[in-house]
Amino acid sequence: MTAALSLPLTSGLGLSASSAAAQQAPSRAAPLVVYFSRTGNTRVVAGQIRRAHGADLFEIEPAAPYPEDYEAVVRQAQAERDTGYRPPLRAMVADIRSYGVVFIGFPIWGMSTPPVIRSFLAGHDLSGKTLIPFVTHGGYGLGDSISVVAAHAPQSRLLEPFTMRADQERETLSQVSRWLGNTPIGR
Ligand SMILES: Cc1cc2nc3c(=O)[nH]c(=O)nc-3n(C[C@H](O)[C@H](O)[C@H](O)COP(=O)(O)O)c2cc1C
Repeated sequence: MTAALSLPLTSGLGLSASSAAAQQAPSRAAPLVVYFSRTGNTRVVAGQIRRAHGADLFEIEPAAPYPEDYEAVVRQAQAERDTGYRPPLRAMVADIRSYGVVFIGFPIWGMSTPPVIRSFLAGHDLSGKTLIPFVTHGGYGLGDSISVVAAHAPQSRLLEPFTMRADQERETLSQVSRWLGNTPIGR
């Protein structure tokens, strides 16, 4: 990995000639599956892709975990999106250049990609690779997420995303709150 690639906050552009050559000849036949998941929906899809393709799996995690409380995460994610903040990641893929195909999975946050996805894309050189997004959302669709991916990986071959609605934490919380509010145990 070059110094530029190890920095999560760099743009990932400006390949040297030698790394460009390495990009053209990935040494692994198996794809890489990278994903971010807070409540597990996207993780299930990632596991299925891994099994189907004998792929390697990498979980994208922020260096500082998000709060457990849903409303607090929504607030933090919104602030990070509005300021364009790219949270540092817990780890990077050390040998990204050896993969030719990268599946990238995430939930929709605030009608966009979660901020860690921008960190991941900016911190890894994906030029020349085939990039296949898989996206889960709570019912409001892809938002601008695919154009964010395209803008952060302009030299990748971006394929059509797989996308599906998956259980939304917010719905679970409100249904359980209603039930708890009606539970006759006295407080
Ligand atoms: C901070 C936050 C923001 C979200 N924003 C949206 C949204 O804008 N549109 C939407 O359809 N779902 C939204 N969701 C719901 C998730 O995209 C959906 O539940 C997803 O499947 C969660 O995936 P995960 O279990 O892999 O974390 C949001 C969830 C969170 C936690």
